[in-house]
Amino acid sequence: MIDNLRILILAAGKSTRMKSKYAKVLHRAGGAALIDHVLRAARSVSTDITIVIGHSADKVREHLPESRFVEQKEQLGTGHAAMTAHDNFKGYSGNVLILPGDVPLISPRTLEALAKFHTDGGYTASILTTDMANPHGYGRVVRKTEDEAESIIEHRDATPEVLKIREINSSIYVFDAPSLFEALARVGTDNAQGEFYLTDAIGILVKSGKKIGAFKIENSEEVLGVNTRQELAAVDHLLRRNKCEALMTNGVTIIDPASTFIDVDVHIGPDTVIYPSVQIQGQTFIGEDVTIHSFSRITNSKIGSGTVVLNGCVITDSALGERVSIGPYAHLRPNTTLGDTVKVGNFVEIKKSTLGAGSKSMHLAYLGDATIGKNVNVGAGTITCNYDGFQKHPTFIDDGAFIGTDSQLIAPVRIGKDAYVAAGSSITDDVPPESLAIARGRQAVKEGWVRERKKKKP
Ligand code: UD1
Ligand code: CA
Repeated sequence: MIDNLRILILAAGKSTRMKSKYAKVLHRAGGAALIDHVLRAARSVSTDITIVIGHSADKVREHLPESRFVEQKEQLGTGHAAMTAHDNFKGYSGNVLILPGDVPLISPRTLEALAKFHTDGGYTASILTTDMANPHGYGRVVRKTEDEAESIIEHRDATPEVLKIREINSSIYVFDAPSLFEALARVGTDNAQGEFYLTDAIGILVKSGKKIGAFKIENSEEVLGVNTRQELAAVDHLLRRNKCEALMTNGVTIIDPASTFIDVDVHIGPDTVIYPSVQIQGQTFIGEDVTIHSFSRITNSKIGSGTVVLNGCVITDSALGERVSIGPYAHLRPNTTLGDTVKVGNFVEIKKSTLGAGSKSMHLAYLGDATIGKNVNVGAGTITCNYDGFQKHPTFIDDGAFIGTDSQLIAPVRIGKDAYVAAGSSITDDVPPESLAIARGRQAVKEGWVRERKKKKP
């Protein structure tokens, strides 16, 4: 946390170059909206944050219910956006850190270093800059001295001479707040885009004799901005690469980081092994010594230590205990809870159901709205018929029960403790504990039937 620092995030812009009807800052990279990444970094240096919104403002508000907003009704440029927040800064004489909403890789450490550079140097404003291998599209920083800037010139307004400059404006600045708003009041629209550029505030301050710092960082990836779908893919790639790097540093084996897609908020314990082509998304917590095989997708789920997820599983909003085995090709839909050592095999679909410790459903089953106790065996092809066309009904299978192959359990129904259901049964009524239920047509054998038939053949 830095004292006497307020934050202003500019996130009102249209996503013109994204060719999107959605706000640019809500586009996702590394499993979170661009603005989420920026906010995460911002929150680590100050809790006083104002966000300028405009283009699809309602959607941004909805996405960030806890935040303080200012609305920029018309998007007339970055300078105009900052000016919109003027009222919120009346009577405030400290520093303001300005961040664009489209720089998801920025780190808290860099923000701290910029704020320190600003205060130590006694600058009126400080610009975070970097040398870009390909500076195309960025504003260029025209230097005055080794530490100071003269002005920022936008790519579209730059002369061929200025375009040769590789040092770019990251759009991240610290300003003395009163000086910022004084300068913004004097910014005009005489430029290629006819917009009020925040960048012009720099030249204006320099002309009135103020010292503007330019703080250059080595790692230019941190300040990559997202203006196009190509840039969105590029930052997504970097966020995922960084996530895999951090996990490997903490003891997770990732066999092929290039094909492993792990969202930024995922937690994974040491000695877990992740095979190629796996996606782990959202708020997922994975324990230690877990193995996740290829082509599985795990979203917002908890996976206990020692569990094995075999190939091709889809696991969503579910919780798995320890030493569970899933798949290959199992589908765990929302609200599935599996106790320790549960085994779920191929082509089993489970929805809104609980399986107690030690229970098994190894082949070709559908279990929906079912509460299944411990050490239950669900035979191949078992189906809970939970839907009557109007409503969903529950199935209860108590501890130790055995459901024979190819049975239908027509809900609502309860199979008692240690009860047996004979293979091929259609169970419509409750089965008491320790009983056997058989609900199928009896077998008839007609001996010699084939012989007789052959004789009749013309
Ligand atoms: C801006 C800088 C450029 C810098 C680059 C770094 C200006 C004029 N240019 O250009 O020097 O190199 O960032 O990424 O500032 N926004 C609003 N309201 C508006 C316009 C924009 O809130 O009316 C917001 C956008 O949502 C975005 C941020 O300001 O989050 C930056 O705007 P953007 O259009 O992306 O600016 P760039 O062209 O990238
Ligand atoms: Ca931008």
